[in-house]
Amino acid sequence: MKFFIDTADIDAIKDAYEMGLVDGVTTNPSLIKQSGRDHEETIRDIASFVPGPISVETISSTAQGMLDEADIYQTWGHNIVIKIVMSPEGMQAVKYLSAKGIKTNVTVTFTAAQALIAAKAGATYISPFVGRLDDIGHNGMDLIKQIRTIYDHYSFQTKILVASVRNPIHLLDAAMIGADVATVPPKILQQLFKHPLTDKGIEQFLVDSKAFQKT
Ligand code: E4P
Repeated sequence: MKFFIDTADIDAIKDAYEMGLVDGVTTNPSLIKQSGRDHEETIRDIASFVPGPISVETISSTAQGMLDEADIYQTWGHNIVIKIVMSPEGMQAVKYLSAKGIKTNVTVTFTAAQALIAAKAGATYISPFVGRLDDIGHNGMDLIKQIRTIYDHYSFQTKILVASVRNPIHLLDAAMIGADVATVPPKILQQLFKHPLTDKGIEQFLVDSKAFQKT
């Protein structure tokens, strides 16, 4: 399973990239706003050192508007994926872009029917938001299982990109189900390293090493 990082924070992306944990990056308007930086400048900075796919989200509500934005975003890096919201206009844009060989990521999706529609339009990635489903009392991971089953039945090439990841269990479950990608916020990435027995073991080794250190 590939790890994408779900942030527009350059320092956080660099840290994770240096540990080999960044196969790609996902951004959205909220993450760009949080970064407090210019959109284009931020994406160009990310593209300057991340070779993997970088999702950049369109904000237009018409297919033509999305396609115009896609033209601009593609000049910001060689590895830009056009992120498009689930809507009839959005699927028109996805169909057009996919016919041209331009990669797309269909976002804010919450049902298997939406995943089916995105795959039929030729989306490169589908982003089901598991955390937001859990937030309203549903089971986000059940959706990932459904999409995996449907895509496998019909050999759809659209990749399942698990989004809105809120904890390490989401990541583990995504891997068990066979999702293609999980996009992980930096905070969750840090949590993946943690186990109390790891901390305790490291501490004990440090203490014991004092017995034979020469200086
Ligand atoms: C993914 O593409 C989205 O940007 C993101 O995962 C949404 O996560 P949130 O529900 O934590 O905002």
